[in-house]
Amino acid sequence: MELIKVNPAHKKYIALIELNRPKELNALNLQLMQELKEALRQLDEDETVRVIIITGNERAFAAGADIKQMAGKTAIDMLNIDQFSTWDQIRKTKKPLIAAVSGFALGGGCELAMTCDMIVASETAKFGQPEIKIGVMPGAGGTQRLTRAIGKARAMEMVLTGDFIDGHEAQRLGLVNRVVPVEMYLHEAESLAAKIAAMSPVAAKLAKESVNRAFETHLDEGLNFERKNFYLTFASEDQTEGMNAFIEKRKAEFKGR
Ligand code: HXC
Repeated sequence: MELIKVNPAHKKYIALIELNRPKELNALNLQLMQELKEALRQLDEDETVRVIIITGNERAFAAGADIKQMAGKTAIDMLNIDQFSTWDQIRKTKKPLIAAVSGFALGGGCELAMTCDMIVASETAKFGQPEIKIGVMPGAGGTQRLTRAIGKARAMEMVLTGDFIDGHEAQRLGLVNRVVPVEMYLHEAESLAAKIAAMSPVAAKLAKESVNRAFETHLDEGLNFERKNFYLTFASEDQTEGMNAFIEKRKAEFKGR
């Protein structure tokens, strides 16, 4: 891995992926996205990992897709490169993903943060979909996920003006889970990750899948999907352990089985 740093054992059960093109503000070129896809595939299979944090650095989470790499391309080049199959794979990660965002999260960077399940932001974070300023528009889910997250009026404004919002505004609008001073954002993401990592990873996987289903189907089908996954948790040792621990007034030790 050249453009990202991966630590599968950053903390107990928590993996950390750092986007690492600092000079280019972590612009997401094709190689970086391939590396990210591969890292997530491996971490998803790694039994010692329960939660994955994706971060950048203080100045930038990611300032978008790499404009220099895209500038000379035709529509057919873009079609043939098919970069979004990489994004689709990332989206299929089964373990909870937390984006720890400071500085710029723009265009594809904002879209990558929104592809994660939760976002922890620093006060200095700047979220935006500025593609319109370079004559294009969001292509990795920006028009869809932002609209679902913050509603039509504000999403429309951000997508059509390219204006940024800061961490506090992003939290007020429901785009991010938590906003903290810049020196705390990674730590805050780690404590959120640690909380989730203490739960049954089987239940976490099934619960993540079920929450995501809420965006993809109507209520009746979503409730049915939820119910099946709920029943499935009763096939796990973690369910027995969790319920017994409650009754015996002790802390549950989940195994992921
Ligand atoms: C390539 C980028 C880049 C990008 C920054 N850089 N963003 N290179 N692609 N998206 C490079 C700059 O060229 C520069 O390198 C270096 O990073 C530092 O950036 P500066 O512009 O000098 O920094 P600053 O003045 O602080 O401005 C920061 C900024 C600005 C406001 C974030 O860089 C900016 O507007 N970037 C583009 C944001 C954007 O439009 N993103 C959406 C991209 S389209 P050099 O070597 O030149 O000094 C997109 C579509 C997604 O994301 C669709 C699917 C994936």
